[in-house]
Amino acid sequence: MKNISLRKATIEDKALAVGFDYNLDVVEHIELKREDKITKAILSEECFIILVDNREVGFVIFDYRFFDQGWIELIVIDAEYRGKGIGGNTFNLICKQCKTNKVFTSTNSSNTPMQKALTKVGFSFAGTINGLDDGDPELFYYKKTNNREAKE
Ligand SMILES: CC(C)(COP(=O)(O)OP(=O)(O)OC[C@H]1O[C@@H](n2cnc3c(N)ncnc32)[C@H](O)[C@@H]1OP(=O)(O)O)[C@@H](O)C(=O)NCCC(=O)NCCS
Repeated sequence: MKNISLRKATIEDKALAVGFDYNLDVVEHIELKREDKITKAILSEECFIILVDNREVGFVIFDYRFFDQGWIELIVIDAEYRGKGIGGNTFNLICKQCKTNKVFTSTNSSNTPMQKALTKVGFSFAGTINGLDDGDPELFYYKKTNNREAKE
């Protein structure tokens, strides 16, 4: 695998990240006000550009809003770079930089690539929440980092 790294997004990266999300699903992008979400994440220093050998291939939003634990809010990789292990490597980098003992995330039951990418790098299934998207339950995953103990 080539060299994968994360760079904290700046406001100059806004169009790039918004473009990745727009290309993923234009209807969701507009309905879920994703441009606002991405802008807020950049301004809060919670958005990271995913680089493969210095080429920008996607972005990830990571914060601590889920019960004060690390939380991967959103990850989008450009279509031509999916299924090559970049998602899994990104989760590993997020786990390394996380300041708490656990990283959580969730995905729809229909999103098998996301579930595969998570389990491949050691995330465990944490449970299901019904009622968010009709007929497509939300599956939660987590991984222990033990970073807080190590950093104290
Ligand atoms: C979900 C996502 C972040 C995963 O990243 P990735 O780089 O594709 O993940 P990986 O390559 O590490 O692992 C994906 C696994 O799913 C498999 N897969 C099956 N169908 C796939 C598809 N259509 N696209 C990508 N991967 C697919 C891959 O082969 C791989 O498993 P394997 O290594 O056993 O072969 C990425 O696919 C993506 O950006 N998807 C669109 C946005 C999205 O769904 N985001 C998550 C919202 S919760």
